[in-house]
Amino acid sequence: MSEPVVRLRALRSVTLRSTSCADAGEFYREVWGLRQVEQDTGAVWLRGTSSEHHVLQLQQAERNALGKVAFAVATPREIDEAASRLVAQGIPLVTEPGKLDQVGGGYGLRFADPEGRLIELSADVFAVTPDDPDGHPAVPRKLAHVVLNTADIDAACEFYTRVLGMRISDWSEHQMAFLRCNADHHVIAFNQAPFASVNHVAYEMASIDHFMRGIGRLRHNGITPLWGPGRHGPGSNTFGYFADPAGLVCEYTSEVEQVVEDAWLCRVWRRTPELSDLWGTAGPPSKDVRTHMAGVPDPGYTAWWRG
Ligand SMILES: [Fe+2]
Repeated sequence: MSEPVVRLRALRSVTLRSTSCADAGEFYREVWGLRQVEQDTGAVWLRGTSSEHHVLQLQQAERNALGKVAFAVATPREIDEAASRLVAQGIPLVTEPGKLDQVGGGYGLRFADPEGRLIELSADVFAVTPDDPDGHPAVPRKLAHVVLNTADIDAACEFYTRVLGMRISDWSEHQMAFLRCNADHHVIAFNQAPFASVNHVAYEMASIDHFMRGIGRLRHNGITPLWGPGRHGPGSNTFGYFADPAGLVCEYTSEVEQVVEDAWLCRVWRRTPELSDLWGTAGPPSKDVRTHMAGVPDPGYTAWWRG
């Protein structure tokens, strides 16, 4: 079996192509608690309280879709090594390794997964001054995870484990797979679905108190959760799901399970109400939240990529 092409250190950021970039930007900035670091025509970049330059980029688009998922790699040399290993495995590069001509800078490369999701590996990205991570404001610290709907969960898991070296932490029957690249129980999860699309993006709150106060702030803005608050079985993380102005689902989460690599055993969780909602506070997901999480078919990056 071939070695992974790279050692991923962390989930860095996600780019969402949004039908309502301006309104969604305002929502994530004024209500959700991210801070804007840059803006351009039809694009906005937002950060959490960590030193990561940005965790979310919104790009105006005709349909909601994934723009890209960016992972942190330790050094530019590992980016170069990843490039030659990708090519050796017959995986074409979308962007050759080099300085990234984008907000936040860095050195990186891009390629696509089997369903056309753009993946960016980057190193040496600009830092921003971290805010007090345990400070009072109930605002997100960092990206926690991205959940992606896939038409072929086995093919998706095979690619992300074999090529990117991710590990499967848990399954929710044969419906969802939770993948990690560091101690966090999952940074990517795949959900078996009729078509590829964005299911949701989760943001980590510093504590369960921050998590609940964040939900409270949304409530004061007239926005109640589509689902939650509750605590999931797989990952043991808290959840509160909302829809942004473009209809994409965003989640506050906290207390995600920390994996001890050498001791962890993958489990299969049955899809019962007690296991997806440990507290019993959230109830089963509503039709509304399931519709939002299903999203719209995402044809992949070739539909919009201009180099
Ligand atoms: Fe989630």
